[in-house]
Amino acid sequence: MDTLTKSNTDTNQDTFPIRGTDYIEFYVGNAKQAAHYYQTAFGFKLIAYRGPETGAKETASYVLQQDKIRFVLTASLTPEHEVAEHVRKHGDGVKVLALWVDDATDAFNKAVKRGAEPYRQPNTTEDEHGKVTTASIHTYGETIHTFVERSDYKGAFMPGFMPMESPMEITPIGLKYVDHCVGNVELGQMNEWVKFYQDVMGFKLLVTFDDKDISTKYTALMSKVVSNGNGFIKFPINEPAKGLKKSQIEEYLDYYRSSGVQHIAVATDDIIHTVDELRKRGVDFLRVPDTYYETVTDRVGEINESLNELKRLNILVDRDDEGYLLQIFTKPVQDRPTVFYEIIQREGARSFGKGNFKALFEAIEREQELRGTL
Ligand code: FE2
Repeated sequence: MDTLTKSNTDTNQDTFPIRGTDYIEFYVGNAKQAAHYYQTAFGFKLIAYRGPETGAKETASYVLQQDKIRFVLTASLTPEHEVAEHVRKHGDGVKVLALWVDDATDAFNKAVKRGAEPYRQPNTTEDEHGKVTTASIHTYGETIHTFVERSDYKGAFMPGFMPMESPMEITPIGLKYVDHCVGNVELGQMNEWVKFYQDVMGFKLLVTFDDKDISTKYTALMSKVVSNGNGFIKFPINEPAKGLKKSQIEEYLDYYRSSGVQHIAVATDDIIHTVDELRKRGVDFLRVPDTYYETVTDRVGEINESLNELKRLNILVDRDDEGYLLQIFTKPVQDRPTVFYEIIQREGARSFGKGNFKALFEAIEREQELRGTL
């Protein structure tokens, strides 16, 4: 059932306005080296740092930016810190999906009143560049949402961070903004988390995919996409469905040891350039068979990009009634088969590439087979 809601600019239902994704924070084993990877491979620029040199004794954080996308990579300096515990349990993974709001205290109070579990009370910090207020609530697994109110903060990132520049020349690769962030939740939990986003944040259910949409011979999953009123925040939530073999969602849950963020989709205006660069810089992608391209024109019709280029880079295409989209998925970016990236270029389409699900899941199954986890 593919029930894409046409109008996604109705903000009446929102519990509070959200301007977009403020940042995504990863807890990792070695933030210094992860920062190097995101600079050299993904073309992010280092903009700020917090650690012992700035008075933070237990953690080190690197803030990276490319256009509107901001990643924070945090590692623990002690075995006792919660960041170390998070990494021990989950491996490198996403801890914070931070949302940019006008009033973080109001967002937090409203969310908690509507049933969110508080993680951190509103807190305002200040330096010579201005004030930032943050407050956090729990979501699935050990993931949290932090509401960030920046008023007119002029510093590099937030009070407590010092500006820092990449120690090498960085060439961005055209990544623009976070298109959507996908969560994997345990069997039977999808509807509960969809309800959470509807009740707490006032999000709308945008699309439903059941196991008839997303299944191969062996594995299946179900997915529902929730979105805020302006459509800047889109959270697909996946849960495993019964198949003959272990689904990719179950494999994720086994390795991540709880619900958590599965993939982050980042948008580009020129996917051919972006993916060409990523491949040159050593980023690994899932591969669909060349036969995929034999039927692609029948399925999606005319597109502006060269089919040969798409085939060379193994980029996928799909169409809905508003336009088309181009997409590709990396392999997991850490040793555990957990978090990965989607690179997406939207040419009118607001959907998620349903026409590619089968080819993609078969590609994932080939990877699972190599890992012995299918
Ligand atoms: Fe996606």
